[in-house]
Amino acid sequence: MGPKSRAGLATVAAHMTRVFSGIQPTGQKHLGNYIGAIRHYVTDQDLGEAFYCVVDLHSISVAYDRDTLAENTLDTAATLLAAGLEPDRCTLFVQSHVPAHSEGAWLLGAVASFGELSRMTQFKDKSEGRESVSVDLFTYPVLQAADILLYDTDRVPVGDDQRQHLELARNIAQRFNSRYGETLRLPEAAIPSTGGRVMDLQDPTRKMSTTGGTPGGTVLVVDPPETVAKKLRSAVTDSGREVRRGEGKEGIANLIEIAAVATGRSAEEVESAYDGAGYGQFKTDVAEAVVEYLRPVRERYLELRADPAHLQTVLSAGAERAREVSGATVTLIKERMGFVSE
Ligand code: AMP
Ligand code: TRP
Repeated sequence: MGPKSRAGLATVAAHMTRVFSGIQPTGQKHLGNYIGAIRHYVTDQDLGEAFYCVVDLHSISVAYDRDTLAENTLDTAATLLAAGLEPDRCTLFVQSHVPAHSEGAWLLGAVASFGELSRMTQFKDKSEGRESVSVDLFTYPVLQAADILLYDTDRVPVGDDQRQHLELARNIAQRFNSRYGETLRLPEAAIPSTGGRVMDLQDPTRKMSTTGGTPGGTVLVVDPPETVAKKLRSAVTDSGREVRRGEGKEGIANLIEIAAVATGRSAEEVESAYDGAGYGQFKTDVAEAVVEYLRPVRERYLELRADPAHLQTVLSAGAERAREVSGATVTLIKERMGFVSE
């Protein structure tokens, strides 16, 4: 249980560990998303009460296609359910169905500063060299802070690239509390030590990404098995032969981490298992392991995707529960900030 932050209020007494995470509905999710985040959403379902949100409002902060937004949102929800999220064990919902997120972002924007938002590396990366940069891209991390803080979140399972955004969410909460009195719980990022940053298979100096990576170097969770195998077998390595992590061995180090996760071993165990084996055998084995790792997820995904009515039912029930919790926090935030009550 996290520190008491709403001292004296009845809501504190009943608090169980709250888990919250968000994922964008941008195209198909990839192996990096799966290893860095999604598989931890699954295990974190039983820590207390867990909320998982498909953050469609975030996805409109850069150029997007309105004709595919709805389908992409359902694809992402189906991927999460296929990975093992269960509606009885967690709340899965779509951000735009819960107005408290936008309202909370506006309210918390009062304690976020222009300077700190300007320092966000994701904003710098995504805005660099662009002629037109949306206001939403700039305030993106404030909406993310609202997502998290509205659920009294203790733990946020994310990949390594979200570290700075999580730090900002904590700072916003802290600043709010010192200005308006203890109100918001301080969340902790839960970043995996193995697989927190999966790299592109064709360019292992870049993280795997559907928007910034190479198509051949990005394994999609729902890629057909032959495609998965081909992408892994053709992963770029180096001119050495030892299956070990180290300087100049980003490609092989990436495959070692992927192999470790896919076979449930540590990276050290993978290294010693391939002592003296050479890259060829190793790559063939990693390809096979990842194919088997993703196979059941892809199969469940295809089933779930064939039944959009079921998906819609799950998401409406999720939105209802999410509105209950986040609406109460927005009411409290407004009260603390001095707004007149209705
Ligand atoms: P996104 O698709 O950007 O919403 O990311 C969803 C989750 O996947 C976030 O928690 C990210 O930190 C995580 N993630 C994204 N790319 C990677 C990657 N290459 N390796 C590990 N985790 C990642
Ligand atoms: N910014 C996150 C990403 O790109 C997505 C996100 C939005 C998120 N809101 C969140 C992650 C709240 C964790 C908690 O991956």
